[in-house]
Amino acid sequence: MSANAIWYVSPKKGSNVKVLVCKDYDILSRRAAALVASVVADDPKATLGLATGSSPVGMYQNLIKLYEDGILDFSKIKTINLDEYYPLDPSNDQSYHYFMNDNLFDHINIDKNNVHVPDGNAADINKAAEEYEKLINDNNGTDIQVLGIGQNGHIGFNEPADTFVGPTHVVELTESTIKANSRFFDKIEDVPTKAISMGIAGIMKAKKVLLVANGENKADAIAKTLEGPITPHVPASILQLHPDVTFIIDEAAASKLQEYRPE
Ligand code: F6R
Repeated sequence: MSANAIWYVSPKKGSNVKVLVCKDYDILSRRAAALVASVVADDPKATLGLATGSSPVGMYQNLIKLYEDGILDFSKIKTINLDEYYPLDPSNDQSYHYFMNDNLFDHINIDKNNVHVPDGNAADINKAAEEYEKLINDNNGTDIQVLGIGQNGHIGFNEPADTFVGPTHVVELTESTIKANSRFFDKIEDVPTKAISMGIAGIMKAKKVLLVANGENKADAIAKTLEGPITPHVPASILQLHPDVTFIIDEAAASKLQEYRPE
């Protein structure tokens, strides 16, 4: 084990979540890329569930590097992204579709016909959600689902609520999410107030889950997710029930964990 990343385990009965605490964002990004790379290398036709946001950007850069170095081949890889703002045209530079092209797809040999991002511009958004759910199910879920986490514990755009929502659905974004995401827009009024998101069922169907988080502003959400009760008020807490989930986080994001012990 290297000193710049340490595995932690939960003493909580029944929790399978493995946590790798990395010294910094650079190490985190490399370790996360290595996990995704192992899935691509094991199955060149794998389906990757992907996330946007700032957390996985470094991981995507490392995956691009592995492609450029001739180590990874994405030509037969399929992707299914978590979410998209609604309404927003995919060509808008704030759309998640644009983000994925810019941060990954335009730099690797992926076939764009195999890339799937929810349609934030659909005339009938509920129908688009149904079709996206069918895509996930026809594919039998993803081989690995990459997740970031919101400061309020959201995964995808599954916001805190009284119940978990299973299928892909249209979401009313919370104030906390709109505020957090306004950093990418000129002004807060420009942030769309709705989104279309894969639901909890689609996420939990993944064979493996990888959650990446960095920074002190994620420490509360990480502690509640891993050490608190499983509740729809902290949507990521459902991951305690997934059989193969790895959190790769930095020291700041791990700073409020009480129960996790070095392996
Ligand atoms: C993005 C997504 C969101 C983000 C979360 C964290 O596709 O589904 O759940 O992962 O909001 O965002 P960052 O990484 O920007 O802090």
